Amino acid sequence: MEQKSRVNKELIEAVADMEHVTVNNLYERYPDFFIDVKYEQGLLLKHDVIIWHHPFYWYSSPALLKEWFDLVLEHGFAYGKDAFALKGKQVMNCITTGGRESTYAPGGLNRYPITDYLLPFKQSAYLCKMNYLPPFVVHGVHLLTEDEIENYKKEYQQLMMSLRNNN
Ligand SMILES: Cc1cc2nc3c(=O)[nH]c(=O)nc-3n(C[C@H](O)[C@H](O)[C@H](O)COP(=O)(O)O)c2cc1C
Repeated sequence: MEQKSRVNKELIEAVADMEHVTVNNLYERYPDFFIDVKYEQGLLLKHDVIIWHHPFYWYSSPALLKEWFDLVLEHGFAYGKDAFALKGKQVMNCITTGGRESTYAPGGLNRYPITDYLLPFKQSAYLCKMNYLPPFVVHGVHLLTEDEIENYKKEYQQLMMSLRNNN
């Protein structure tokens, strides 16, 4: 997440104080991109549900989250024959996009559904023996009214509560 963020910031603030929810802001923690791999792996071990929360950048995640994948999801820890650290955890993407939903369809500017672009995340979850849940997507962020943002915040809080309560 970036400092200039508007909608992501609001979504995170909506859930940050909930019991049993940990917000781990990579851009705040690692402004120099030097990720503490052991710390991040420890955090993963302590949580049953992982959310990759990020703005959608070039049809993927921002660079620091990609770096997190490259370093933290190590062979022998996250994947491989004898790696079970993440097995059975729930994982999902929460993303915001500049493009409206209608553009993520055949005939639209972005041509393919958002779930197609998220396949690398889904497959990474599979490789790590995690259960990939449907993404929470907020499209067309630049056009959202304050009321619409409020509604997304409530939806996100409800989702978080049901994940936490294991529904
Ligand atoms: C470097 C960069 C790449 C982006 N790539 C995409 C993209 O591939 N698809 C898209 O719909 N929006 C794209 N956007 C728009 C962002 O997704 C949008 O600005 C972000 O979700 C806004 O979140 P915020 O309100 O928290 O700042 C991009 C924005 C930037 C700055």
